[in-house]
Amino acid sequence: MLRTQIMCPLRAIALSALLSWIPCSHASDESLDVLHWWTSQSERRAADWLARQAIEQGIPWQDAVIPGGGGGGAMRVLKSRVLSGRPPASAQLNGYPVSEWADLGLLLELNTPAQDNMWQDHLFPAVIDTIRFRDHWVAAPLGVHRINTMLLNRKLFERAKVSPPKTWDAFEQAATALQQAGIRPLAQSSEPWQVATLFESLVLAEGGAQFYGQVFVKQAPTAFQAPQFAQALTRLRKLKQWMGPISDQPWDVLAKRFARGEAAMFIMGDWAKGEVMAMGLEPEQDFWCQAVPGSESAHLYSIDTLVMFNGNYARQSTQWALASLLTTLPVQLGFNRIKGSVPVLRNLNANLLDSCARQSWIAFGKGPLAPSLTHRMAADEQFKATVINQIHRFFIDDRVTISEVQRKLAATTRYLRQNSHDTQHTRR
Ligand code: GAL
Repeated sequence: MLRTQIMCPLRAIALSALLSWIPCSHASDESLDVLHWWTSQSERRAADWLARQAIEQGIPWQDAVIPGGGGGGAMRVLKSRVLSGRPPASAQLNGYPVSEWADLGLLLELNTPAQDNMWQDHLFPAVIDTIRFRDHWVAAPLGVHRINTMLLNRKLFERAKVSPPKTWDAFEQAATALQQAGIRPLAQSSEPWQVATLFESLVLAEGGAQFYGQVFVKQAPTAFQAPQFAQALTRLRKLKQWMGPISDQPWDVLAKRFARGEAAMFIMGDWAKGEVMAMGLEPEQDFWCQAVPGSESAHLYSIDTLVMFNGNYARQSTQWALASLLTTLPVQLGFNRIKGSVPVLRNLNANLLDSCARQSWIAFGKGPLAPSLTHRMAADEQFKATVINQIHRFFIDDRVTISEVQRKLAATTRYLRQNSHDTQHTRR
């Protein structure tokens, strides 16, 4: 059997301020297929960079990439692989699905890498909450994305002689000036998950983090009928006038258009920052990042994690080694810099981050926090899909009224709640 020397990074973290590794021995003759949905230029670079770090440590990473922004396709492929008895060694999962797969008993416990690397001490509390299930560690965290991110093309703002808008009134003025200068103010796709990604930022901006939690985490039917929810819908419809002709372009195509100067602003998770930087643009010099107007005090987050599937004892030590590698400081800094996200470590020198990442990392540490619905952090698939469908319909069809969306969502939520109570009752 081929035996490779591999470093045990996190044991050393405690000893030497997260910077050096100590070796340990580990068997690595089993290749590790890692299922993920990172296919854009920056995502690809980030995944390749990570694969190289793993391979250098004797972890035979084998890429299993399923295209499709937001991970819809990857989630379907994962289900069918598990159902046909061929689960990957590792898969990218965010939020809710982590505990759902863990509940089915399919995930390898990562208690050993978690202890070796002192995750309890080093990770942000919201990250810990996401990757623990019934007192066990069940996922290895990679990075934190900020969804309520707005990118602004500096050259275009300077050409139109306007400053970055911090309020919606200022946004309207800036958009008017940009349009008068022949510049498309806002890039946006009509792909359902992209519309929902924008909309959840608007709910946060209109209602604040507590209201956001009432709507998307507690799923209180009355919250859907609240004026703040109606305002978020009004805002979504108003923003349409600044988007130009809309089609269902992938997000990375829009990021490229923004980078080429074809739109002045782009509201998207900060993976878009990674894409823009992959095209050679630099924060401050070429573009600015800020929170979506009205949402600056809060961090709307999504956490990328890798889970390991159990059932194959021969590959377990390699899976643990990969989990360990992910939270080392060099990997956290290197991967997240390319990906556009920020490290999951709560103690680090913020000067090591670019200005966009710094804002996000500080806001994530301070809170208040809002878990992304669209990116599976807030609720299960059924509720998420219901909201996305209604919001998408409202966005593409101007005949759909605000009160109709409110009524439908409140009614569906009531139904889903009733149904899940019934199911829980039957299970007991
Ligand atoms: C998110 C994921 C990001 C990025 C994005 C676009 O769900 O957290 O890592 O890949 O989708 O595909």
